[in-house]
Amino acid sequence: MSEKIIVFTDQRAQAAYVPDVLQAPTGSLRDRLDRPLHDLRISVTDRCNFRCVYCMPKEVFDKDYSYLPHSSLLSFEEITRIAQVFIEHGVEKLRLTGGEPLLRKNIEKLIAMLAQLKTVHGKPLDLTLTTNGSLLARKAQALKDAGLQRVTVSLDAMDDAVFKRMNDVDFAVSDVLQGLDAAHKAGLGPIKVNMVVKGGMNDQEILPMARYFKGSPFILRFIEYMDVGASNGWKLDEVVPSAEVARRIGAEMPIEPVSANYTGETAERWRYLDGGGEIGLISSVTQAFCKDCSRARLSTEGKLYTCLFATRGHDLRALLRSGASDAEISGAVSHLWQARGDRYSELRTSQTSLPASARKVEMSYIGG
Ligand code: GTP
Ligand code: 5AD
Ligand code: SF4
Ligand code: SF4
Repeated sequence: MSEKIIVFTDQRAQAAYVPDVLQAPTGSLRDRLDRPLHDLRISVTDRCNFRCVYCMPKEVFDKDYSYLPHSSLLSFEEITRIAQVFIEHGVEKLRLTGGEPLLRKNIEKLIAMLAQLKTVHGKPLDLTLTTNGSLLARKAQALKDAGLQRVTVSLDAMDDAVFKRMNDVDFAVSDVLQGLDAAHKAGLGPIKVNMVVKGGMNDQEILPMARYFKGSPFILRFIEYMDVGASNGWKLDEVVPSAEVARRIGAEMPIEPVSANYTGETAERWRYLDGGGEIGLISSVTQAFCKDCSRARLSTEGKLYTCLFATRGHDLRALLRSGASDAEISGAVSHLWQARGDRYSELRTSQTSLPASARKVEMSYIGG
């Protein structure tokens, strides 16, 4: 593998189209497949202090890799303004992602600004953040004080050697566990723990992870390894189907399915029959959940993506920085959502030999 992979960070995004006739937002937008806009995921940095093999492999994200310059990033004021527009179209959940969002300087300030916003029904937003946990022990209380409601923490193994092979920067399991503990003490719950399962790499950790988190305050979720981006060298035979995860866990600790918390939930919920809490299975490869997908993604530099696997974003920052009004930005968002027909995972499931495209944007750029 000597050939250098060039990572695609969408240079071709088109300035978002603003329709001639601007209609006031109604608090409810539907796309071409009748899916509402409910969830906005905001990437606040494309940098990360981990090099997870399935996300930012070291061979690609090395010292020569060019991250976005600071001037490209949306400012906190710009993010808040865009979030407000989305809320007027019905968004009720904001998730901050990265890269690693806690690396963004003064992230607590942004959280405090977003925490002031209210849904169209006047209720507080579901304001949450996905983190690798490395800075959580230090920051949990400040995040809570700023108004963050909950966190989701990534952890791929209980065994230190396996976890270090996955994060590829020698980060120890115990440090993530301390972060989880601090988040729990600060009241940032319900706290979810996300484990990406890569066959042949960490699937032997499924049971140790399940045993550790059973009966704890944390909800463990197993994620099928996905062909997101173009740099992780994804192969279908490295995906461990959720059905296999359920089989392995159920053989030792009996489980039964539970109904979803809300329409469009990524995870299928299961609970332990003995009252040991629940787990989640996120099966975007073997059982696509595009049918109810209500997620929009805003990249670090202000491009809007209507699918995790999109090859092209729509430049909202260009609109903001060229002096567009809120009504114009709102018009651009409704136009984009109403034109949306994305269902990448469903199409992949029906043609499992589909080659991993070389043009998809990276998860560290668009947010998980
Ligand atoms: P809750 O609000 O707690 O229900 O979280 P969530 O499941 O909406 O968000 P989270 O970021 O925790 O999602 C977990 C993982 O599911 C992500 O890291 C991705 O791997 C995957 N995922 C999330 N959204 C999508 C999506 O829209 N499409 C696909 N294919 N995978 C997704
Ligand atoms: N497949 C599945 N999930 C991934 N993530 C990143 N890359 C992948 C991938 N290739 C998710 C993980 C991690 C979050 C930040 O992004 O859930 O916890
Ligand atoms: Fe960083 Fe999260 Fe990607 Fe790992 S999965 S490299 S922690 S952004
Ligand atoms: Fe939504 Fe695209 Fe994921 Fe399907 S593949 S669930 S449309 S983000």
